[in-house]
Amino acid sequence: MELNGRMVLLLVSVSVEVATLKAGSFTVDYERNCFSKDGCCFQYISGSIHYFRVPPIYWKDRLQKMYMAGLNAIQVYVAWNYHELTPGVFDFTKSRDIESFLRLAHETGLLVILRPGPYICAEWDLGGLPAWLLRNSTISLRSSDAGYLSAVVRWFHVLLPRLKPFLYQNQGPIISVQVENEYGSYVTCDYEYLRHLYTIMRRLLGTDVLLFTTDGNRVHELTCGTLQGMYATIDFGTNEDVNTSFQVQRQFEPKGPLVNSELYVGWLDYWGVEHSLVPIPNVTGTLQEVLQLGANVNMYMFEGGTNFGYWNGADYNNKYRPVTTSYDYDAPLSEAGDPREKYHAVRTVISKFREVPVGPVPPPTLKVAYGRVSMTKVGALVDLLQVLSPGGATNSTYPLTFEEMEQYFGLMLYRTWLPSGVEKPTPLLSLLNAVHDRAYVLVNGVYQGILERDNVLQLNITGRQGDLLDLVIENMGRINFGPCLLDFKGLVRNLSLGDTILTGWSIFPLAIDEMVANGWPQSAQLDAKPAAQGPSFYSGTFSSPEPQDTYIMLQNWTKGQVWINGFNVGRYWMARGPQQTLFVPKSLLSQHSPNKVTVLELEQAALVPEVEFLDHVVLAAWNDGKEGTARDQGDGSAGTIH
Ligand SMILES: *[C@@H]1O[C@H](CO)[C@@H](O)[C@H](O)[C@H]1NC(C)=O
Ligand SMILES: *[C@@H]1O[C@H](CO)[C@@H](O)[C@H](O)[C@H]1NC(C)=O
Ligand SMILES: *[C@@H]1O[C@H](CO)[C@@H](O)[C@H](O)[C@H]1NC(C)=O
Ligand SMILES: *[C@@H]1O[C@H](CO)[C@@H](O)[C@H](O)[C@H]1NC(C)=O
Ligand SMILES: *[C@@H]1O[C@H](CO)[C@@H](O)[C@H](O)[C@H]1NC(C)=O
Ligand SMILES: *[C@@H]1O[C@H](CO)[C@@H](O)[C@H](O)[C@H]1NC(C)=O
Ligand SMILES: *[C@@H]1O[C@H](CO)[C@@H](O)[C@H](O)[C@H]1NC(C)=O
Repeated sequence: MELNGRMVLLLVSVSVEVATLKAGSFTVDYERNCFSKDGCCFQYISGSIHYFRVPPIYWKDRLQKMYMAGLNAIQVYVAWNYHELTPGVFDFTKSRDIESFLRLAHETGLLVILRPGPYICAEWDLGGLPAWLLRNSTISLRSSDAGYLSAVVRWFHVLLPRLKPFLYQNQGPIISVQVENEYGSYVTCDYEYLRHLYTIMRRLLGTDVLLFTTDGNRVHELTCGTLQGMYATIDFGTNEDVNTSFQVQRQFEPKGPLVNSELYVGWLDYWGVEHSLVPIPNVTGTLQEVLQLGANVNMYMFEGGTNFGYWNGADYNNKYRPVTTSYDYDAPLSEAGDPREKYHAVRTVISKFREVPVGPVPPPTLKVAYGRVSMTKVGALVDLLQVLSPGGATNSTYPLTFEEMEQYFGLMLYRTWLPSGVEKPTPLLSLLNAVHDRAYVLVNGVYQGILERDNVLQLNITGRQGDLLDLVIENMGRINFGPCLLDFKGLVRNLSLGDTILTGWSIFPLAIDEMVANGWPQSAQLDAKPAAQGPSFYSGTFSSPEPQDTYIMLQNWTKGQVWINGFNVGRYWMARGPQQTLFVPKSLLSQHSPNKVTVLELEQAALVPEVEFLDHVVLAAWNDGKEGTARDQGDGSAGTIH
C-alpha cells in the first residue's frame, strides 16, 4: 500500500515534468553544473552565423551545413544599425527578415543563442550601433546616457516583441539571450546601464528566458561585464589555456555550466595585413579539450560571410585598421558557404561527443568564371555632382562631419578655394588626423594624391589663388571595438594649407548608392578622359544565362567600390590586399538581361579597363600603405583559397 502511494506521487511528479516539457524550459542547473533543457542536462555545440552577412537565398543552405556538422545550436547577433537606418524607421524585410531566418533555423533542427546587443562588435560598423546616434557628438555610447538609452529602449520595443514568439518557452528555437557584448572590455563600466538592459529584456521577453553575458577570459573584464541575474560566460581562442580560462569563469559562476561563447576557430582580415589563418590542429585540439570538460561552446565564426556595401567595421590597434569586405574568417564554411577541411575536422571531433546526423553534407555551390568584361568610363566624380548631389552643397566656414551632414556612409565631397597662390609645393596638412578616413585630393579637377588617417597626413600641392580644391572623402568603416567608439567621419578637424586654416567649405553629400540602385548610369555619358586619375565611374555589362556564384577581380585597378545590378558588393583595394576578389552571389545576377557592373575607382583604374569574373578566390600579398602602391611587400606570393 505504502509503496503504491509513493508510486502515485512519483507519477504525479512525472506528469508535472511532462507539463514543463511541453511549455519548454531552458535554465541553468547549478547542482549538475549544466544547462537544463526540459529538465535534462544539455550541452550545446554551436556555431556563429550572421544573417546580415549571408544572402537570404543561402540562409537555408548554410544552416543545413551547420546542422550536418553536428551542431545543435547556432549563435546569431542582431545588427541594430542594419534595421534602423533612419531613426524610428524599421526594416525587417528581405536580407533583414530575421524572423524568417529564425524559422529556418528552427525547421533545420537548430537551437538559437540570440545576441541582440544593442552593441555587438562583430567587426561591423560602429559595433552594430546606428551611426545616427553620433549626431549628438557628446553622446556616451554603451552607458546610461539618456539619449543613448532612449534610442535603445525604442529599438528593443520594436525588436524584442517580434522575437518573443521564438523563445524556447514559446516552442521556438531561442534558448538564451545575451545582454550587451563583452561589456567589461569597454571603458564605461556602468552597472546602471547593464541593469537597464536587464530590466528591459525581462519586461519584454518574460521572466523565464535565460539571460547571459559574455566577456573576455580576464578577471577585470568579467568584473565590469557581469551582473546578478545574468549568467556569466566567457570567450577565448585556441591559443589560450582552456582550464585557466574556465577557472576565471568559475570565479564569477562557482557553479553552473562552463561556457565558451566565442571559441575563435578562425580570425578576421584587415586591409594591408596578412590573411589570417587558424590551423586545423589548433581548432580541433581546443574544441576537443572544451567538449571533454563537458563545457558548452560556440565556434566564432562557423560561417563568416561578407561585409557587403559599407558595413565593415574597423579596429584601432595603434592605428585605424579597417576590416576587409570578405568576412571569410577562415571559418569551417567559407565565405561562399563551402565546407573546408576544417569543417570535416570539426565534425569528426563533435562525433566523439554526440551523434552527428548521417547523410551527405550539402556540396559546395557551383562557381562560374564569366570571364573578362570591358569597362567604359562614365566620368569623373567631380564632373557628375549635378547627378550625384541633386540637393547641392551645404556651405560652412569650418568643415562639417558626415554625421553633422546626416550622410552616414560612403563618400562626400569637401570643396573650397585656395585662399592664396602657392607656387612652391606646399603641404596640405591633415594635422591631428583631420581626415576620417581617406581623402582623394584634386586641384581644379586634377588628381593630386591622397591623405589617409594615421598614415598620410600631408600632401604637397601647388596652385593659384581661387583654384578649386576638392577632397572626396571616404568613410572606410567605423571603429567597432575599444575606447574610440565615437568615430566621426569626413573632415573631423580643420585642414590647413601650410600655416593657413582652410575655410569657406561647400560640402556635397553624395547619393551614389541611391543613383546606382536606380539604374544610373544608363550609359557612358561623358566624353571622359579614360586614363585620368582620381575618383571616376566605370560601367560594363555581361550576361549569365544560368546565374551562379562568382567572384569579381579588379586586377591592375587600385581601390574603390563595386555594384552589380545596383547592389553594392563592397570595397576592393587591390593595392593594399590581401583580398583580391569580391564574392558575387548568384542572387544578384540576371538570367534574362545583361548584368550591369558599376565601378567607382578612387585612384587609378587599370590602363586597359577590364574586370574579370573568376570561379575562385584570390588572395595576394599585402602591404600597409607605407610604401605607396608596392604590391610585393608581403611574402610575395599570390594564392588561391577554396
Ligand atoms: C547630447 O548628449 C549629452 C550627453 O548625454 C547631453 O548632455 C546633451 O543634452 C545631448 N544633446 C542633445 C542636443 O540632445
Ligand atoms: C584540465 O582539467 C582537466 C580536468 O580537471 C584535466 O583532466 C586536464 O588534464 C587539464 N588540462 C590541462 C591542459 O591542464
Ligand atoms: C597553432 O598552434 C601552434 C602550436 O601550438 C602555435 O605555435 C601557433 O602559434 C598556433 N597558431 C595560432 C594561429 O594560434
Ligand atoms: C555656397 O557657396 C558657394 C561658393 O561661394 C556659392 O556659389 C553657393 O551659392 C553657396 N550656396 C549656398 C546654398 O549658399
Ligand atoms: C613638400 O614640399 C616641401 C617644400 O615646399 C619639401 O621640403 C617636402 O619635402 C615636400 N614633401 C613631400 C612629401 O614631397
Ligand atoms: C577650426 O578652427 C576654428 C578656428 O580656430 C575653430 O573655431 C573650429 O572649432 C575648428 N574646427 C574644428 C572642426 O576643429
Ligand atoms: C594587369 O597587368 C599585367 C601587367 O601589365 C598584365 O599582364 C595583365 O594582363 C593585366 N591584367 C588585366 C586583367 O588587365
